[in-house]
Amino acid sequence: MRVIDRPSIKDIEFCAEVIKSGGVVVFPTETVYGIGANAFDPDACRKIFKIKKRPFRNPLIVHICDLDMLHRVVAHVEERAKKLIEKFWPGPLTIVFEKKRDIPGIVTANLKTVAVRFPSDKIAQRLIKAAGVPIAAPSANVSGYVSPTDKTHIIDDFKNERLVDVVLFRGKTKLGLESTIVDVTQKKPVILRLGSVTVEEIEKTLKVKVEIGTTDKQVLAPGMLKRHYSPCVPLYLFEDKDNLLRFILKNKDTKRIGLIAEEKLFSFLNDCSSIVIKKYKNIAHLAKNLYRFMREMDNMRLDLILALRVKESGLGRAINDRLCRAAKRIY
Ligand code: TXA
Ligand code: MG
Repeated sequence: MRVIDRPSIKDIEFCAEVIKSGGVVVFPTETVYGIGANAFDPDACRKIFKIKKRPFRNPLIVHICDLDMLHRVVAHVEERAKKLIEKFWPGPLTIVFEKKRDIPGIVTANLKTVAVRFPSDKIAQRLIKAAGVPIAAPSANVSGYVSPTDKTHIIDDFKNERLVDVVLFRGKTKLGLESTIVDVTQKKPVILRLGSVTVEEIEKTLKVKVEIGTTDKQVLAPGMLKRHYSPCVPLYLFEDKDNLLRFILKNKDTKRIGLIAEEKLFSFLNDCSSIVIKKYKNIAHLAKNLYRFMREMDNMRLDLILALRVKESGLGRAINDRLCRAAKRIY
């Protein structure tokens, strides 16, 4: 696995050749790093499942760099999708369309639909453009673990993986949470995964209420499965600040505790050496750093990670969703 830091245009062109010849490239997007292959090449895409230990029933997102490419992938773009495209592309919104037959079944888990995303990240765009083919890419982490937002995360997950040809590295990702996935192939638009574009923004653009998919219905996006995005150290999620504080005071002398907390809330714990505190300034800052916090605390082999649910609006919804999925217990 070759890692290229701050890639030049030449490096990106080299990686485009790797993609064209059936290889696998890890590349940055504005949300999290992706691990990509030519979406028209089933053998290349099969490698991604193998590398990630990803079940074949979990389909991949196809990344494009312009609307011409969209038409090579999807059968039909309807009105609601056009509105979303105009407002959010390029950017962190994935849209589910009816697929064209040219997209191999392995990419879409044999569904009739395909999830498509036009990333705003310039390296991602240049890579797709130079390859001249759409790139199928899930997040560049071992299946079920936390998505990668920095170089160490990719290396931790794939360091001995010979099937990864190149990693294009360009620093921490800008947003830190995955794209929002919206399905417009059904009667009512449904958000299949909460993410970097908020529900409020989508509703404002479509001028309708959107449904939020839940796990008690048919699982459309396995990203909606519980216990996904989980650290190895058990995470306990609290609804109430006072309960969290009581728990800390009761356990701090016997357990090594990691705490994800808003800077101003628990500053009085700063002097307590048995607690590792990962502080955030505001919701956007937490979104950007949540996965890094989880991975860093995992590597410290703590006994417990504690977190407090945030306000359920805007980006806060996606954060609460990830915290719930990561949580072993909810208090
Ligand atoms: O921000 C992102 O979306 C990142 C970057 C790399 O683009 N990608 C990402 O991919 O998070 P992944 O594979 O980790 O998550 C893709 C999700 C999965 O939960 C999958 O089930 C869902 O998209 N998905 C893919 N195709 C689908 C389809 N046709 N219908 C419904 N869900 C689909
Ligand atoms: Mg993923």
